Formats: sequence, C-alpha cells, structure tokens
Amino acid sequence: MVLNGLVTIRAYRKIDYFNVNCMVENEKSANVTFTYMIANRWIGVRFDMAVVLITGIAASLCMASRGYIEANMLTFSLQNLTDVVIHFSVSIRMIAELNNFMTASQRIIGYTELDLEDELVKQLDTKLTENQEWPGKGGIKFENVTMSYRDTLEPSVRNLDFEVQPGMKVGIVGRTGAGKSSILQILFRLVDPLEGKCLIDGIDISTIGLHLLRKKIAYIPQSPFLIQGTIRENLDPFEEKTDTEVWEILKQVKLDEHISAMKEGLLSKCSESNNLFSMGQK
Ligand SMILES: Nc1ncnc2c1ncn2[C@@H]1O[C@H](COP(=O)(O)OP(=O)(O)OP(=O)(O)O)[C@@H](O)[C@H]1O
Ligand SMILES: [Mg+2]
Repeated sequence: MVLNGLVTIRAYRKIDYFNVNCMVENEKSANVTFTYMIANRWIGVRFDMAVVLITGIAASLCMASRGYIEANMLTFSLQNLTDVVIHFSVSIRMIAELNNFMTASQRIIGYTELDLEDELVKQLDTKLTENQEWPGKGGIKFENVTMSYRDTLEPSVRNLDFEVQPGMKVGIVGRTGAGKSSILQILFRLVDPLEGKCLIDGIDISTIGLHLLRKKIAYIPQSPFLIQGTIRENLDPFEEKTDTEVWEILKQVKLDEHISAMKEGLLSKCSESNNLFSMGQK
C-alpha cells in the first residue's frame, strides 16, 4: 500500500518534494515518541524520589521506636515497605500505560454504541416475495422527502417530490453537490429521510427489510471499486450462483478471456492496489 503511487511520483519528478514531506512527518513521529519517553523518565525520577522520602521517614520512625517494638518486627516491616514502594511506582506506570493502550478498546466500544440500521428482515418481506414478485413494475415515487446526513448538518435533499413511471428511463441533472447521489442513498436506505417517504411500486421502502430492498436494486457507482478478495467474491459475494453462471455473465461482458488468462482464474486475488483491471473493466 505504501508503494502505491510510486510510479506517479517518479513520472512527475516529485521525488524531492515527497522526500522532504516524508522527513517532516518522520520528525513529527519522532517528536512524539521522544516526548513520551522523556515523560516516562520524568515520572520515574519523581517516583524514585518519593520512594526515598517514604523509606527515609519509615526508617527514622523505626529508629525512634527502638525498644518499643521487637527488632524482628521492625526488620519485617522495613523489608515489606521496600517491596510495597517498588510495586507502587511500577503499578502507577502500568496504569498509565494501560490507559494508553486501551484507547483501541475504547474506540471499539464506541462503535458498538452507534445507532443500528433498521431491521434487515421484516414481516412484510415474505408476503412480498411469496404472492407477487416485488418490485414487479419498478415505479418510484418520492413524497416530499427531506434528508440530512447528520442532525447537525443542513439537509442535502429538501422537499423532493417526483414520480418515475414503471419502464421510464430518467436522467437526473444538477451541478456537483446538488444531491443526485443522495437520492440514491435514500433509495438504498443508507440514510433515512427526516421527512416524507419513498415508495417503490406503491410500497413504502421503510416497511421492507433492508436485505430485500437492497438486493432488488442494481446500482453502478460513480467510481468503480473492488473489495479485498477474489474476483469471484467481488462478483458474487453471497456465493449464490454457480461457476457456470458467473462465467456466462463474464462472457456477456467480454471479460471471460481476460480472466481465464490469469493464472488463478476466478480465484485471483484483487484489491484496489493491484491493477488486474482497467477502469472500464472494473
Ligand atoms: N456522507 C456524507 N456526509 C455528509 N454530507 C454529505 C455526504 N455525502 C454528501 N454530502 C453532502 O450532500 C450534498 C449532496 O451531495 P451528493 O453527493 O448527493 O451530490 P451529487 O449531486 O451526487 O454531486 P456529484 O455530481 O459531484 O456526484 C453535498 O453538499 C455534500 O457535501
Ligand atoms: Mg454524485
């Protein structure tokens, strides 16, 4: 991943620029590490001083109480004191380190507290798929939809009201950032509208399970991307189709020769960084 883009850097002769940038970033990292180590030593020295002080006071008290307490008891308490004091400084350092390392767990706990998506499967799903194949016609209707990505943000789609008749081919035109992709996000329920509703063939999409809804809509994204895994996993992530069916589709889009020429065929590993496919092929 680090070497991704190296060719571009060389082609534009930006080696020096990135060299300097790399050094600057390296220095920042070294600064942080150095500060961390210095702080660690600083607290170490302070603890040792505290240890000396406590042991000194305890030893003086022992001297003062000579005659009142038995000698073996005094030795015993002094011996234990040294142990306790050493463990004290070690445990404080450990607690600080634990705090540091636990940031990762804190993040994960934070993720578990995020709002969940709506139910993946709902009661209506079986009825829709059993009696009639939904969506049979493919009519889309937006009724006064307002959507905002976050509560704190201005709405990206405001009072949108339109209807697409079944079988119609529609293009949405608008300047960049107008909210065209946001309409698709609403259709897939990646973000739910604040107001209004969206109907597909007369069914409010918020009453359908997310799995059914998302499986029934096909979408070609603005910028193609591949998930980390084999070509087959990219084409059929739920392993619902047979190899023959997958090859049949590849033949139709004229990619069968390209993929069969690869050493591992459908099982070739692909990701964003290795260039198995051109933009168009993706
Ligand atoms: N994930 C997001 N979180 C917050 N705001 C977003 C998010 N995605 C888009 N927006 C905002 O919503 C508005 C609409 O964006 P959208 O991506 O729908 O535009 P678009 O019409 O598809 O533009 P383009 O033609 O460039 O693809 C923009 O102001 C954008 O900043
Ligand atoms: Mg867009």
